[in-house]
Amino acid sequence: MGLYGNNSIERLSTGIRDFDRLIQGGIPRGFFVAVVGEPGTGKTIFCQHFIAEGIRVGDKNIYVTTEESRESIIRQAAQFGWDFRKAIDEGKLVIIDALMGGRDDLWSLHSLDIEELINKIIEAKKYLGYGRARLVVDSMSAFWLDKPAMARKYSYYVKRVLTRWDFTALLVSQYAVTTSLGFGFGIEHVADGIVRFRRSIASGYLRRYVIVEKMRQTEHDLRMYEVEIVNGVGIRLKKPTPMRREDLALPRRVWLKMLESEILRQAEVPEDEEQ
Ligand SMILES: Nc1ncnc2c1ncn2[C@@H]1O[C@H](COP(=O)(O)OP(=O)(O)OP(=O)(O)O)[C@@H](O)[C@H]1O
Ligand SMILES: [Mg+2]
Repeated sequence: MGLYGNNSIERLSTGIRDFDRLIQGGIPRGFFVAVVGEPGTGKTIFCQHFIAEGIRVGDKNIYVTTEESRESIIRQAAQFGWDFRKAIDEGKLVIIDALMGGRDDLWSLHSLDIEELINKIIEAKKYLGYGRARLVVDSMSAFWLDKPAMARKYSYYVKRVLTRWDFTALLVSQYAVTTSLGFGFGIEHVADGIVRFRRSIASGYLRRYVIVEKMRQTEHDLRMYEVEIVNGVGIRLKKPTPMRREDLALPRRVWLKMLESEILRQAEVPEDEEQ
């Protein structure tokens, strides 16, 4: 910590000690942090660490899942030694299932509607009770899949409404990663922090990485770290890595395609979209 340390800022551990060290001990309370990255890079597992830590320290925890069922989230967590089922039974965790679509379950979303999402989250917070809370929405992208131009507006709306409820939140976005174009940028400007997961295949071997691209009020580490996902443990940070640009660069063909869709996207934004 530097000379002008942020001692007055309360920070929440992510549950990954090595990662906490990159951000002066944790995520500032009340922050909305975007977790972005390609498929299979560790976003969901990162979020599970955050929730497992919340359970451990007695925070109120809400996990919204759109791509996997509640059961899948519970099973995945169990592989790293976290008993989400028990936490649910003890009233420490609510998993809002947006995949299974209702089925008479109190904690399910019937549609991928942003209003319904927010109402359900507030309902869950009331159920869990007063106090410091952790929220994961895995993923936000699901809510604007058919209307990507709304990404920024929705992100802003979620933050504005939920900020009053004492949440520190991780909002997952799947499409932001490979380029600065595409659908993800809405969330990244609105977010107080950005944690980006990446991947590369080098010498026939899949590698994963993480980098903190933004964390307001924080003198964060600027390096990219290679990441391991270890059975029974979860995410482990390895050494900072001098990743080569060509490991990440997109083929020109893909790049042009994205540019094209970005131009179409811009044309599609309605006048009143800007805040
Ligand atoms: N028990 C385990 N032990 C080791 N590695 C595991 C284990 N469970 C999952 N993994 C690894 O983690 C990966 C999945 O990570 P995760 O679900 O966090 O990705 P993600 O970024 O959320 O992907 P998506 O965008 O598709 O949801 C798997 O592809 C696998 O490589
Ligand atoms: Mg996931």
